[in-house]
Amino acid sequence: MRAQTGGMFPRLLPLLPALAAAAFAAQAGGPINYDEAAIPPYTLPDPLLAKDGSRIRDAATWRTKRRPELLELFAREVYGRTPAGRPSAMHWETTAVDRAALGGKAVRKEITVWFTADKAGPKMHLMIYQPAGAAGAHAPWPAFLGLNYYGNNCVNPDPAIALSTRWMRQTAEAKIVKNRATEGTRGVHASRWDVENVIARGYATATIYYGDLCEDRNEGLTSDVAALFKTGAVNDRALDAWGSIGIWAWGLSRALDVLAADPEIDGKRVAVHGHSRLGKAALWAGAQDERFAMVISNNSGAGGAALNKRIYGETVERINTSFPFWFAKNFRAYNARESALPVDSHELIALIAPRPVHVGSADDDKWADPRGEFLAAKHAEPVYALFGKKGLGVAEWPAVNKPALGDGLAYHMRPGPHDIKPQDWGYYCDFADRVMKR
Ligand code: GCU
Repeated sequence: MRAQTGGMFPRLLPLLPALAAAAFAAQAGGPINYDEAAIPPYTLPDPLLAKDGSRIRDAATWRTKRRPELLELFAREVYGRTPAGRPSAMHWETTAVDRAALGGKAVRKEITVWFTADKAGPKMHLMIYQPAGAAGAHAPWPAFLGLNYYGNNCVNPDPAIALSTRWMRQTAEAKIVKNRATEGTRGVHASRWDVENVIARGYATATIYYGDLCEDRNEGLTSDVAALFKTGAVNDRALDAWGSIGIWAWGLSRALDVLAADPEIDGKRVAVHGHSRLGKAALWAGAQDERFAMVISNNSGAGGAALNKRIYGETVERINTSFPFWFAKNFRAYNARESALPVDSHELIALIAPRPVHVGSADDDKWADPRGEFLAAKHAEPVYALFGKKGLGVAEWPAVNKPALGDGLAYHMRPGPHDIKPQDWGYYCDFADRVMKR
């Protein structure tokens, strides 16, 4: 499959070396291109071409033959392998419930989940807000589930949420001091979660601190869940051992185990979502775990929704250099060799078919390659077509504020920076209303 690289491209071909030199700025981990015209030609693998050279022509053959092949390639070459299922001794306890949270508009539940019988062993804290009051008659609720960056306390200023005591990346934005959350961390990502509006739209919203599962640093691969599964240190792992994205994705599936057992939540209508590195994890979780009813990638970029073979913004080499613990070691073999990758992100999205996928970009977020995120959704369409789904419903990359809420696939571009804003949540809820509401 020859991918689009922009209509201007053929005419600019003779100028390519000069343009490329101007557009590529030397950076650690490889040069970064921000010029559409300087993207080297690339070829995407055909999701419908099986390993044995046969063509996939129907949904049943896709499911039994091609989907497993692609899952294997993503596990082996990109994210690393995920242990199957939930640990047999995993158990959980509800530690707090407030049926009049957020001024009476929500029910808030806090649940601790231990992955083994040992209460001193690895665990995560799951928090759920669900609509309350008269609307409670509509339970079980469809839900959004996503990981957060600074503890469950960051998603809303609600002072009753237990403050995370875990290691956190030190940032001024979140008022993290000595790698711990402070009282000032409460609600720092409230605009990214938009809890009140999501609840008002008739959805529950559930979250876990990603650092409960795997700390976002090299050391993450030798503690907690990684240690439980004997992952091995960042550079000493097996080539196909998982990295933190795989672990975060696994944690999302374990959270779904818990949500599905809650009679007030509809486990068949849970959308997994994530922003940026956590959007990569959401896509991988949705690709592997078919129980997720919908998948939302917000600004997930390289190693997420953006096409790796389209050299624009962050590259494979750059991401593996900055974050050597995010992916399998095997992924490093594609540093500056994206053309050799046997898969690309259109196939990651296709693995989710026929379940709906919504890709959200932001127009200033060039690092994440908004157009590459759109093209991945576009090139997943042939797989959605096997299931009778029309896909995005647009041929061209939509302008800002013009969401394409299609059949099976949705895309929008919001003006502004790398972030999730209430505007994004508005579109995600609009699409979810069509695909997840009864
Ligand atoms: C970095 C990284 C991206 C990632 C982003 C984030 O910019 O290079 O790949 O998506 O962090 O998670 O915010």
